[in-house]
Order: sequence, then structure tokens, then C-alpha cells
Amino acid sequence: MKPDEPSRTALIPARQRAAHQLLDEGSILYDPFAMKILRDDEKDVLGFANAHPVASIGRLFTAARSRIAEDALSGALKRGIRQVVILGAGLDTFALRNPHGAREMRIYEVDHPATQAWKRERLAEAQIALPLRLAFVPVDFERDDVGEKLAAAGFQQKSPAFFTWLGVVPYLTQDAIGRTLDYISSIPNAEVVFDYLEPPEAFSDELRQLEKARDEQLKNMGESSVSRFEPAGIRAILRSHGFCAIEDIDFQQIASRFGRAVQGLAPGHAGVHVVHAKH
Ligand SMILES: C[S@@+](CC[C@H](N)C(=O)[O-])C[C@H]1O[C@@H](n2cnc3c(N)ncnc32)[C@H](O)[C@@H]1O
Repeated sequence: MKPDEPSRTALIPARQRAAHQLLDEGSILYDPFAMKILRDDEKDVLGFANAHPVASIGRLFTAARSRIAEDALSGALKRGIRQVVILGAGLDTFALRNPHGAREMRIYEVDHPATQAWKRERLAEAQIALPLRLAFVPVDFERDDVGEKLAAAGFQQKSPAFFTWLGVVPYLTQDAIGRTLDYISSIPNAEVVFDYLEPPEAFSDELRQLEKARDEQLKNMGESSVSRFEPAGIRAILRSHGFCAIEDIDFQQIASRFGRAVQGLAPGHAGVHVVHAKH
């Protein structure tokens, strides 16, 4: 990312979630704030959804990864976890529509300082009230110590926590990914849900072309897609950080569980995964 500019990629999943509400009735992820958080010139989400024949695959994956994370969070709350950290939050709206109630948990939204400032501006513009017990923590994963910043915001490092890290890992260097996993694994009973991309060969033809074009576009925007992993590689990294219960959900599983909910889902296979790991 460019140091002083908000992430441009954060708008993509935000528009996917809004399109999911209109086209698929939010049946994977119901999000009444998905449209509200968009600015007027971003609200043509149907145009966005129809701009590419395989955009529906991105819509499925975006809605499904949040749903998987939020279902896992419900389980963690039942196990007594009361701290939730949304790493690279972008325009995620979980804190605004938290179905568990603010008393149940403290939420920390961690994001690149420029993206977070941009989100806060649009929340104010849209007159969306901030929930109680939400802390905004500006962090650049490439430069800052996430633990120091979270502790300064009141995060209890000796208490269990649930982390989500959606749509972020591909944009980070291996070094920043390793340091962030080090930190997560230092928290007792930590759980994390994140997604990752496989190398381009794991995508079907049309998606592979799109991936290539997207990589080019991202490079031009200063947000090159740098990190891709094989499933065995991710498992080895997580094990080396002490994660023992690792559930890796691939695109096929996502499509068979949620695909019917997506109107006009294009055929194709994406090398994308969602992981739920417990320490
Ligand atoms: C594609 S968006 C995903 C946003 C959100 N999690 C979602 O699913 O809608 C990528 C997010 O990663 C964040 N990000 C990328 N590089 C970062 C870095 N070096 N430090 C902190 N955040 C970063 C961006 O600011 C952005 O919010």
C-alpha cells in the first residue's frame, strides 16, 4: 500500500457485499450497512456485479468468508472469548451490526492508518453511529508492532481473543504475515479466521486471466498481490506458530455450501481458501 493513501482494494469486497444484498437477498451474509457505507458514486453495485462474467464468484467468496468468520466467532463467544480483533478491517461492518450485543465483547478494528481514517470519514458522512466498545487501532502491518498498538488501545494480551483477517494476507509480505501470526499465537486460546490465495495455476482459465489483470492493476496502484500459498505450506506455517486445530475450507466446499445462494453463479474454480485456526 502507498503510505498516505487508503486501500483501493477495500472498496471491492464492500461493493461485493452490497451487491450480495441486492442480488442474493443477503442470504449468505445479511448486512444492512453494506449499501449505507458506500458513497453515492459507488452505489451502482449492479453495474459493478455485471461488469465481468465471473464477478459472481468474487461475490460468493466475499460473502462466504465473512459468514464463515462470523459463525466461528459465535462459537468462540460460547467458549467465553470476549475480545474480537478485526485485522485489516477495510469497510467491514460487523461492529455496526454485531448481533451479540456490545456488552458481550470488545471489538478492535485494526487497519492501515489511511484506510481507517477514510472509513471513519465515510461513517461520519453517512451518519452511522459508532457502537460502544469499539476501538479503532491504526496499524501498518509492514512497519508497526501490532501488539504494542493493540495494548495501547486497551487490548488485554493475557485474555483470549478471536481474530479475523479477511482479504488481507495476499497484500502482505511473508515477513508481515509471520510477525502477525507470531503475535496472534502469543495470545492465550487465540483463534483466527483468514483467507489466502493459491498460485494462479489453481484457478480455472477465465479466473486466471482475471487474476493476472488484477495483479497488473494492483501493481499500478501500489498494492501488488505478493503472497500466495499452497495449502500444505499454510498448514506448515500455522503449525510452526503452534496452531493445532486447523480447518482449511477450499473453494469447492464453499461453492457446495453457499453457491446456490448466489444468483447466476458463473462456472469456474478459484484457488481461494478460508482457514479457521485455533491455538
Ligand atoms: C481487500 S481489503 C479487505 C478489507 C476487509 N477485511 C473486507 O473483507 O472487506 C484489504 C485491507 O487490508 C488492509 N491492508 C493492506 N495492507 C496493509 C498493511 N500493510 N497494514 C495494514 N492494513 C493493510 C487495507 O487497508 C484494507 O483494509
